[in-house]
Amino acid sequence: MKGIILAAGSGTRLYPASLPISKILLPVYDKPMIYYPITTLMLAGIKDILIISNPYDIDNFKKVLGDGSQLGIKFSYAIQNVPKGIAESFLIGEDFIQNEPVSLILGDNIFHGFGFSSMLRMISLRKNCATVFGYRVKDPERFGVVEFDEKGNAVSIEEKPKNPKSDFALTGLYFYDNDVVKYAKTLKPSNRGELEITDLNKIYLEKNKLKVEILGRGFAWLDTGTTESLLQASNFVNNMEVNTGMKIACVEEVAYRMRYISKEHLASLANKYNNAYGEYIKRIVKRN
Ligand code: DAU
Repeated sequence: MKGIILAAGSGTRLYPASLPISKILLPVYDKPMIYYPITTLMLAGIKDILIISNPYDIDNFKKVLGDGSQLGIKFSYAIQNVPKGIAESFLIGEDFIQNEPVSLILGDNIFHGFGFSSMLRMISLRKNCATVFGYRVKDPERFGVVEFDEKGNAVSIEEKPKNPKSDFALTGLYFYDNDVVKYAKTLKPSNRGELEITDLNKIYLEKNKLKVEILGRGFAWLDTGTTESLLQASNFVNNMEVNTGMKIACVEEVAYRMRYISKEHLASLANKYNNAYGEYIKRIVKRN
């Protein structure tokens, strides 16, 4: 399975904080925001990842992440010149995806919860369908919203509805079979001029091929859209890391735990950082 991270937004809601650099490279507590979606894909067993950026930020992404070989994975890069919609990822990424299934994650989506890794690995093995994730929120009108029947089956999806039919937002993490490229080519721009991910999901729903997984109460799906929510996300990660002594989204640790890199290689990565982050990686080397 291939993975795509969409990171082409200009982050205007965070201006002036995101004027010098893409919002997706701003820190969420102790690491760049993009480490969180990268580790989500890695935990799903995905090693081949396309990062889609705008033309201004692409070189910064390359500088920070390189070709991925240091983590035993592969990063490729592509440009979205104008933000013409989330579903455009599959047109931009067509050559990259080839004949494989693909997972897409928005660069500003942060997930954390017990059992997430095994859930992701199970979902990545599914064939001939799409899987999306529902999460209960207090302001569903800001998101794609999924409605369920009394048996718990998804019956409708609407993008930013004025009168939401449920409290369940669809998160920015999606798994698709290879048909997604073909379906994305049939989409027409919406009223706001975008190729909507919701329209793509509707195609799968109509074909009875859409699975909706609910992320329950113990789960965190964090928003980083405003300065306030970005700070809250940093505080959340800080709290979790201080309380448990374990890091969230440490790419080096995940690469090691997924057996993408050896213990010796992990030890050499620790030496890149003469600080608490490096000490943490050294602790992982010693412990395991
Ligand atoms: O976060 C989940 C929500 O993401 C879903 O519930 C919605 O169905 C989905 O449409 C999307 O809603 P947003 O209003 O959050 O989308 P937004 O336009 O803010 O874009 C999300 C991220 O993707 C943001 O970091 C910018 C980036 N982006 C967006 C578009 C439209 C791109 O890189 N390129 C684009 O063309």
